[in-house]
Amino acid sequence: MSVTPLAWENQTLRLLDQTRLPDDEIWLNLREHRDVAEAIRSMRVRGAPAIGVAAAYGIALAALESDTPDRNALLAGLERAGETLEATRPTAINLRWAVRRVLSAVKSAPDADAIKARAEAEAMAIHREDVEANRSLGSHGAALLPPDPLVMTHCNAGALATAGYGTALGVVRAAAEAGQRVRVVATETRPLLQGARLTAWELAQDGIECTLIVDGAAATTLRSQAVDAVIVGADRVAANGDVANKIGTYAVALAAREHGVPFYVAAPSSSVDLSIASGDLIPIEERPGEEVLSVAGRAAPTGITASNPAFDVTPHQLISAIITERGVAREPYVTSLAEVLGAVGVAI
Ligand code: MRU
Repeated sequence: MSVTPLAWENQTLRLLDQTRLPDDEIWLNLREHRDVAEAIRSMRVRGAPAIGVAAAYGIALAALESDTPDRNALLAGLERAGETLEATRPTAINLRWAVRRVLSAVKSAPDADAIKARAEAEAMAIHREDVEANRSLGSHGAALLPPDPLVMTHCNAGALATAGYGTALGVVRAAAEAGQRVRVVATETRPLLQGARLTAWELAQDGIECTLIVDGAAATTLRSQAVDAVIVGADRVAANGDVANKIGTYAVALAAREHGVPFYVAAPSSSVDLSIASGDLIPIEERPGEEVLSVAGRAAPTGITASNPAFDVTPHQLISAIITERGVAREPYVTSLAEVLGAVGVAI
């Protein structure tokens, strides 16, 4: 695996600053949970599973930062740190899931030292399990593809968006590792260009062929090229199979349906929120209009307002299958997701 966006070394969270890619590979060394929250908010680390892992380490750092010997005071401080971290980005459920998992792991620890040790161990477990989940869902997904497939993806659901290996790009990697010649069509993904800056970069690192298109070219590419499948990631999957993912995903799914191309979502169980009945209930992050108002050094006229929802919801009817580390779910998702995931998809 060539790319990893984060590492835990000597009780320090090391993050590859994704706002600087692909021009500069800058690693940040974070020792305070507030810095982790800021890195998530400003998208130095981004992608649903990656922000979950970073937030888990944020709780571990909050524990290490504290010098109180009082167990209850420390637990109360960690709850506050959890609220700070959870408030950074509202759509990806992985963030809340990871924070809650670390907080619940420390609850029964007998003293402050044990709380610190457990928080660190639990964050490391979340980190390790995410890579394992991606490898597993990657091989489930690769089994759905024909030989030497042409795959379209949107945004970056790759190694950079996870603890490593990737979800949608994990499926691509698993097919490549199985000896297939996989080619990827990546949408550039305005406004922040995760496709152009990140997907194209990480695939190049692994020597996987990638052709970049502008977002508006997705429909015509699905009509005119022999795309075998669209595979995207997820920020949150509702119990009925509706999927929140990067803005523009819904439009790609509509075009895929129109042109008979299977549309797959690849996501670990930590992205599934069985407590939410449908995608209508998923909070959609609204980001600053400035991200939309200029691109490549050119700007809209002064005084223009912009709307900038960071995610959209693709209705489950447009989704051919949801690929998880535990298996592949298909319609009706209300039953298949619960069956495939058991209780693990429920947000804590
Ligand atoms: O705003 P971002 O870059 O965090 O959005 C990322 C996406 O939408 C990804 O597709 C999603 O988080 C899945 S990552 C495996």
